[in-house]
Amino acid sequence: MSAANARLQPLRPDELDADQRRLYDAVLASPRGQGGARRLMLRDDETLTGPFDAWLRTPVLGEHLERVGMALRTDTVLPAAAREIAVLVVAKAWSADFEWWVHGLIARGEGVPEDAIEAIGQGRRAELEDPSCQAAHDVASEIVARRRLEPATLERARDALGERALVEVVTLVGFYQLVSGILESFHPPGPSDDLPVIGLPPMAERAGIDLYEGASTTRAVRRLRPDPIPEDVLRRVLRAATWAPSGGNFQPWNVVAVRNPDRKQGLAKLYREIWTEYAAQRRALISPMPDDLREPAERMLRAGDHLSDHMGEAPVINVFCFHPERVHITDASLDRPSVVGGASIYPAVQNLLLACRAEGLGCVLTTLLCSREKEVRELLEIPEPWATAAFVPIGWPVGRGHGPISRRPVEDVVFADRFGTTLFESTSEVTA
Ligand SMILES: Cc1cc2nc3c(=O)[nH]c(=O)nc-3n(C[C@H](O)[C@H](O)[C@H](O)COP(=O)(O)O)c2cc1C
Repeated sequence: MSAANARLQPLRPDELDADQRRLYDAVLASPRGQGGARRLMLRDDETLTGPFDAWLRTPVLGEHLERVGMALRTDTVLPAAAREIAVLVVAKAWSADFEWWVHGLIARGEGVPEDAIEAIGQGRRAELEDPSCQAAHDVASEIVARRRLEPATLERARDALGERALVEVVTLVGFYQLVSGILESFHPPGPSDDLPVIGLPPMAERAGIDLYEGASTTRAVRRLRPDPIPEDVLRRVLRAATWAPSGGNFQPWNVVAVRNPDRKQGLAKLYREIWTEYAAQRRALISPMPDDLREPAERMLRAGDHLSDHMGEAPVINVFCFHPERVHITDASLDRPSVVGGASIYPAVQNLLLACRAEGLGCVLTTLLCSREKEVRELLEIPEPWATAAFVPIGWPVGRGHGPISRRPVEDVVFADRFGTTLFESTSEVTA
């Protein structure tokens, strides 16, 4: 946060009245004002950073709040690492850069693993070995995301933390939401130019990825983690699907976003049956091929095996359904397989894939389950005459996720004016 964005002019010590001075002194006398940490609290001109300068405007209230903040660190039984994880979850939810930065430093000092901090920064569920850290993480995440605590989360946290620490986490989440509100309302500048606030990872990677970059790296990601997808992310990617064009703008499709574990397992069981047969046929076909052709195909099949074994664990399986009577199929009477109907549905699927790419979510378009439409209809209570067009499991990738793709070059694909005449010379590489 730069001084230019500050909405309150920081108060220097010589400007303070007696009440304000008492709060100012209390902040610097507390453990957070000692040693190296003092540099984070105090600017060169001796004004206070964080929420404290704002609280100087209401110093009596500020004094109480300062004491609560300190008590949450010194008078609690909640382990320090668990505490800092909960603060980071709140900072992420509020996009509160200053809080994220200061508490990231404290969290590292308390031994919070780097990959957990990274996961929280990316809005994923951190996997923590320490049960009290995991409980604090899950409680904080649920409160900030859903504004309530589900009974199962509560019971797990009670077991891991005990009731005192559990209440402390919930209290702490409330307190740091208050602090975040102050920081995000008043944008206090950071401590100094040579100590820059390193805030949350930019949203650009997820929300503002270049279209060409995204489209050229959206590939089938079949290894997905079971971690839940935040509701707002799910809404964003599915809203992107609704932006797709369709014949007459009829939008003849709906999506069933399947999150229920039993229904997901039902789909997964059906999928496994078809995949097993399909993969055996493919392996028989590729077995005589030379290694350089067989190996990529085998790699794809291995990834497919993984998806088939774990599809039910994907956090969401999106089932695209369509209404056959709302699709104007202009090639229906031709003596060849009709494809035009799908053109009012699959652009929406592709929009979903691209949006997942932009969010860092793995995804894969699958159609094998369409052959088991009757069972899928029963499982998901899809009424006649609605039919199924695509099944798209999505989730945070296990490995690298999206990346380079292998496709025919544009020179081979595009013709000039008549079929067969090349439009682009093979050397004409035009980059985005
Ligand atoms: C119409 C269609 C149906 C597909 N069906 C499946 C499927 O049922 N299961 C699967 O694992 N992948 C499926 N895929 C993914 C393709 O196998 C994948 O996009 C292709 O092999 C290219 O791989 P890449 O996107 O990773 O480069 C399907 C893709 C499309 C476009």
